[in-house]
Amino acid sequence: MYRVLFERVFVRLDPELAHRVSFALIRLAGAVPPLRALIHRMFVPRRIPPVSMFGRTAPGRLGLAAGFAKNGEGIAGLAMLGFAHIEIGTVTALAQPGNPQPRLWRVLDQRGLRNRMGFNNQGAARVARRLASVRRTKAGRAATVGVNIGKSKVTPLERAPYDYATSARLLAPYADYLVVNVSSPNTPGLRDLQATDHLREILLAVRHAADAVTPHRPAEVPPGVLPGQQRVPLLVKIAPDLTDEEIDAIADLAVELQLDGVVAVNTTVAHPLGEGGLSGPALRGRGVEVVGRLRQRMGDGPVIIGVGGISDVDAARAYLSAGATVIQAYTGFIYEGPAWPGRINAAI
Ligand SMILES: Cc1cc2nc3c(=O)[nH]c(=O)nc-3n(C[C@H](O)[C@H](O)[C@H](O)COP(=O)(O)O)c2cc1C
Repeated sequence: MYRVLFERVFVRLDPELAHRVSFALIRLAGAVPPLRALIHRMFVPRRIPPVSMFGRTAPGRLGLAAGFAKNGEGIAGLAMLGFAHIEIGTVTALAQPGNPQPRLWRVLDQRGLRNRMGFNNQGAARVARRLASVRRTKAGRAATVGVNIGKSKVTPLERAPYDYATSARLLAPYADYLVVNVSSPNTPGLRDLQATDHLREILLAVRHAADAVTPHRPAEVPPGVLPGQQRVPLLVKIAPDLTDEEIDAIADLAVELQLDGVVAVNTTVAHPLGEGGLSGPALRGRGVEVVGRLRQRMGDGPVIIGVGGISDVDAARAYLSAGATVIQAYTGFIYEGPAWPGRINAAI
């Protein structure tokens, strides 16, 4: 049924408008508890084995990748559809409008998307306020929520550690895990921060800022902060376009800094379609390869979140076999619809 809706209706809409309309419906349904429960029963199979993730219990291995819920909206609605965890963001220290439209295109012949959104988001302070209120609700506390942070466009690269740390300080109290995103192709110079000298500085600054606001002794817990929360797990998200040597260097840095994990991969710029990053099945081969390489290099300890072109059970299994602890998708969800996350989670 979703396929018909997608092919007859969504395809005629501007992709960003289609995203806004469908996300508004998800949010609406998620905000009405009886409707939320009904849709959850309809779309999400009962027997999905729980998965432990950063000390929390998540209902499955497939979560929603960053970029869909950039401002932390709609968490209850997305969990209702069977996403086991939800990575919000990318959030930047300063609110920013992102690139001018058009900035999102469907690549129908390969069931992909191309985007040059440019981190449009409401800024860390406003998103932190929203997350605080989400965490005051039962559904909001039950969800496993990662917060992906990036550099504000106006901040010069040499001030990046400070910019990331500002976001971390505001958002860490509400996050089940934090992701330092240095891999989006749509902020000038951002991917240069994957060079380990830059990255080390950023990760140390973020670790420091996050530790300063967690853990909280009970008397100091601001409203909405997760009870008993300890050190926030810290991960880094990398691009598929890095060389193998660059991936090894990041894996070594992750081990050196005792990072909690790596998210691999972001969109690719290795395509002939024009500006922006490509997502969807074209990413799958390299994504699985990067995950395998990271796992071999880092050993069993760190978490690897595998993402890139997961659109069916086979792709999901390929990432898990390569060594991913859990997986995420964005583009597959757009093409496959609301029943898809539950279906995948039940099958893997
Ligand atoms: C429209 C769009 C916006 C995205 N925005 C972000 C973002 O803000 N931060 C980020 O880390 N990744 C972002 N991504 C990348 C996804 O999180 C994911 O890494 C990538 O799309 C590969 O997964 P997929 O093939 O399942 O879509 C975005 C992807 C798309 C399609």
